[in-house]
Amino acid sequence: MPTEPAHRFLRACQRLTVDQTPIWLMRQAGRYLPEYLKVRQQAGDFLTLCKTPDLATEVTLQPLRRFDLDAAILFSDILVVPEAMGMHLSFGQGEGPILEPVLRRAADLQRLTPVEPEEQLGYVLQAVSQIRSALNEKTPLIGFSGSPWTLATYMVEGGSSKTFRYIKGMLFDQPQLLQQLLDRISDVVADYLNAQIAHGVQAVQIFDTWGGVLGPREFVEFSLRSMQRVIQKLHRSGKEGQQVPVILFAKGCGSQLEAILESGCEVIGLDWSTDLGMARQRLAGRAALQGNLDPAALYASPERLREQVRRLLHAYGPHPGHIFNLGHGMAPDMDPQQVVTLVESVRTESRLLLQQTHH
Ligand code: CP3
Repeated sequence: MPTEPAHRFLRACQRLTVDQTPIWLMRQAGRYLPEYLKVRQQAGDFLTLCKTPDLATEVTLQPLRRFDLDAAILFSDILVVPEAMGMHLSFGQGEGPILEPVLRRAADLQRLTPVEPEEQLGYVLQAVSQIRSALNEKTPLIGFSGSPWTLATYMVEGGSSKTFRYIKGMLFDQPQLLQQLLDRISDVVADYLNAQIAHGVQAVQIFDTWGGVLGPREFVEFSLRSMQRVIQKLHRSGKEGQQVPVILFAKGCGSQLEAILESGCEVIGLDWSTDLGMARQRLAGRAALQGNLDPAALYASPERLREQVRRLLHAYGPHPGHIFNLGHGMAPDMDPQQVVTLVESVRTESRLLLQQTHH
């Protein structure tokens, strides 16, 4: 029998009682932190930063030194997976990521290479090991991957897209080809996450950033099913024999909570367009929920920010299974001081809320 975890983040994933609502933030490491910009400059560019375990470790730890957060997230990027599969990855100045040559026809898929995570993604796994020893059991570490669908959008479009012209063209005109691609990616993602678990991550998050651009049927057929395929393949007990929860964050998919639950995840990440209280009622204790403050609340005054935190905590109520987070990532122009206010108000307000029910 696995023993109950002690960390409040891991406890909340399993819907166990906590003293305070745990909090971590998507993109908690990154360009809004001056110390991150300094290390990135030292590395030369973002990809070198990802590929140098010492630097990736340093940058993972930076937000934990400044803020009282309940989890660390591995510093890397979802697009290292398509790179490991043989595509060329670069980050153009201000243009976002570029993957080339793009995959559009059946013959293009033959260019993809098999992935041995310990080989092509060894630098990530080394970073995981280093981060775990640096954290020294104080804070749990979250590993992650992009969802097969989200990764496929970048691989077929060649980068970010507004219209998703090519991948949706493939979806409607060559659904079998798309399915083949998704299956290929799913197997790599499963192996990659299993390798992260073997190296010590204590939870994994699957980012389905672009699930929400699909219609409801297509979401289930092309995104959810491939995430389910990944989750089914995961070794769900970690290095120390503990359970490794899966967090599934599908942006723009708040209308699909019941379907998402079928994927086998323990935690559903919500963007800010879904009402947290209503989501909790719909799921009726079948999953923990992570989220979902509008990141733009960080642009508001500290008073209004606190008010939004209080509202969100009360919307969920004094029930187990809430992990506080933003509805999407931190932006480069955000003020680190606002994160101090955010974390402190989640602490204070959630303590009050949870105490009321225990007495
Ligand atoms: O959350 C964390 O702190 C962990 C690190 C992390 C990064 N990317 C670092 C990063 C994580 C979890 C990601 C995931 C990721 N990457 C996603 C899914 C999450 C989401 O935001 O929806 C996606 C879609 C990507 C792809 C990606 N990587 C894009 C589109 C960009 C460019 C964005 C931009 O604003 O320029 C990146 C680059 C990237 N990944 C940065 C960071 C800190 C910025 C790189 C820099 O230093 O210039």
